[in-house]
Amino acid sequence: MGSPKYRAFVAIAPGLEMPLLSELKQLGVRGDRQPGGVGIEVGAEDLYAVNLFSRLAGRVTVEVCRTKANSLKAIHNGVKAAPWKRYVWPGQPVEVRATVIRAKLPGRNAVANKVSLAIADALRGPRLPGPRAPRQAAKVHILVEGDTARVTVDSSGDLLHKRGWRQATAKAPIRENYAAAMLHLAEWQPGETLVDPMCGSGTFCIEAATIALGRAPGADRPFAFERWPTFDKALMTALRREAREMEPLDEDSLFICGDRDAGAIKATTANAKRAGVLSALSIDNVSFGKRVPPPETGLLVCNPPYGERVDGGHTDWAAMARILRDKWKGWRVALVVPPHAKRSMAFLELEEVASFQTGGIPVRVLVGDIG
Ligand SMILES: C[S@@+](CC[C@H](N)C(=O)[O-])C[C@H]1O[C@@H](n2cnc3c(N)ncnc32)[C@H](O)[C@@H]1O
Repeated sequence: MGSPKYRAFVAIAPGLEMPLLSELKQLGVRGDRQPGGVGIEVGAEDLYAVNLFSRLAGRVTVEVCRTKANSLKAIHNGVKAAPWKRYVWPGQPVEVRATVIRAKLPGRNAVANKVSLAIADALRGPRLPGPRAPRQAAKVHILVEGDTARVTVDSSGDLLHKRGWRQATAKAPIRENYAAAMLHLAEWQPGETLVDPMCGSGTFCIEAATIALGRAPGADRPFAFERWPTFDKALMTALRREAREMEPLDEDSLFICGDRDAGAIKATTANAKRAGVLSALSIDNVSFGKRVPPPETGLLVCNPPYGERVDGGHTDWAAMARILRDKWKGWRVALVVPPHAKRSMAFLELEEVASFQTGGIPVRVLVGDIG
């Protein structure tokens, strides 16, 4: 018997599917772009590897079955017939979430309860000796659309942007996988100077330094698939070993992060230390207007306060654009800004390369050269 094939979905915020698709291609995994992510068909090795190595992915779910869903009975029968023993241990708690669209069914809770019962029925059987069932719940989702349904199980566990190092946060931090998407969209490469003048908790520079070190984002965190009855431990041990291998930092690498807020500097320092990249970063308590660009040009990346999320932090977008034009000539920039900022910054002639929502706020990613 060959290794099982998984039909999986790699999720990201809608609007960032293309950079995710391109990153997966770099990892050797082909997929098709779908709203809010990328569909892939992979064996165990690639399923584990996407969870471990993808910087942009937010979560990876695996399809367990598709079933008729014109009644609760049809859902029960379809779900019960699916291969649950691959993913869930008898006795393990299961959390089911249901989304019901255009269906004549009694409601989400009734559907979720029916799926729970069907999974319990599928796992019923004589109690065999073996490892104790995990206490963490398997997370299952059913999407009913009309009279068919798709049932998936989560393979990631905690959302994948949680690398483990960002425990100290400043105001309105950007998710690590969105920061990685920005670096990807700006085509930043290790060796190019990186400056984040409004670093908050340091996400951009720390993420970039771990990229430069070749350290996989999931190297030090657990995944839900490690609890599956079919989990291949030897395969994962080999992948983890690879994930933890680190390359020496390029001598010329420069990661400069600063913020006008002393609390942000403290948070960045603590996070960088946890990530093992503190010595690679230069961190200073300087306001953007007073910052002197380093002699070697590179990429300036940042998400200034949008206003809605950071109290009193309304950014004067035109003033920021003037500082960029006057002091940062020759630099490339990648900015996450709210839609209304675009007009005030128009004279910089930056390109909008993506739009997505972060913390429920729509934002645009602007990339380009200054001067
Ligand atoms: C939205 S937060 C950045 C979040 C950061 N990317 C992270 O992931 O944690 C904006 C940051 O800009 C800082 N800031 C605002 N205006 C600034 C200025 N003129 N100079 C330097 N920092 C500034 C704020 O103190 C805040 O930490």
